[in-house]
Amino acid sequence: FTIHTQIVSDSCPSNIALIKYWGKYENQIPANPSISYTLNHCKTNTSMEFLADEPFSVQTFLAGNEEVKFAEKIEKYFKNIEEYLPWILKGKYIIRTENTFPHSSGIASSASGFGAIAKCLMKLDGIFSNELSEEESLRKASFLARLGSGSACRSLYNGLVVWGTSDEVEGSSDLFAVQYPDAEIHDIFKNFNDWVLLIHEGQKSVSSTVGHGLMNTNPYAERRFQEARENFVPMKEILKNGDMERFIKLVEHEALTLHAMMMMSDPAFILMKTGTMEVINKVWDFRREAGLPLFFTLDAGANVHLLFPNNGSEDQIKTFIETELLQHTQKNGVVKDVMTF
Ligand code: PMV
Repeated sequence: FTIHTQIVSDSCPSNIALIKYWGKYENQIPANPSISYTLNHCKTNTSMEFLADEPFSVQTFLAGNEEVKFAEKIEKYFKNIEEYLPWILKGKYIIRTENTFPHSSGIASSASGFGAIAKCLMKLDGIFSNELSEEESLRKASFLARLGSGSACRSLYNGLVVWGTSDEVEGSSDLFAVQYPDAEIHDIFKNFNDWVLLIHEGQKSVSSTVGHGLMNTNPYAERRFQEARENFVPMKEILKNGDMERFIKLVEHEALTLHAMMMMSDPAFILMKTGTMEVINKVWDFRREAGLPLFFTLDAGANVHLLFPNNGSEDQIKTFIETELLQHTQKNGVVKDVMTF
């Protein structure tokens, strides 16, 4: 039977890594395992119209505006995943996508974007062919999202999510992400704030694709990959026993190591801005003086993700952020997200 036109839609959140993925091999195989929190509010909503009678082509609209560059990227991606979805090149796609977080905010939209596209593709696959269970379908969506943008594969699952083979996490794989076992997570980590300070709008000077590539010639790369693997040992203990002090130390170390790797690349590059450094120093001062669990992580960009537990005693932290840290952002920009599961 033939289905001429199908429209499917889905949405997918962004995620923020605690142990970072930076460096990869052929076919989007990560050089080390990573673990992230999936956000609740920062999402991409995508609708995908598939016109089966047309020759293969892709048209994309971001927030209503046609984006030719993005369409080219998706076309290439679809060709790349044909071996896993044999029907994929047999029609025309009109893809409409919008983010719930501000455009050009620098919040990773590739993770939520590819996550949403992979979910839409699995919905079409469900219509055309597959007999996969819900669980298998989700795993395949994670597998497909990985081939679009590595970190996207983690966005398919809620809560804490691991991508990359780790001896510490049963069932973990380089090919898709898995949810970190709920029973192994202390309650303190199941309700956490992530307030993203928008330090700098506009394009990053170096894309993450180029950044990953520079790890191939970075003399510290192997040591870094080893360290990330090793960091799963304390992370596992911390997540189980709720040791906030060790958690903070580990998460900040991971963020700074990511950026240190960039500085030690050849050519070197720096994605932090003055505001990033100012905020980090103020967070450290605040923690020393107030003794409250406010800490940060960074993505491949200048924005600062401010992390703190959401357990009813965070008023002082919120006031501090609003009175002392917002001034370091562009246009008082902050996106307030939370991770609850
Ligand atoms: O998924 P990519 O290729 O955009 O890589 C992103 C990597 C970091 O965001 C810097 C770290 C991570 O693990 O998400």
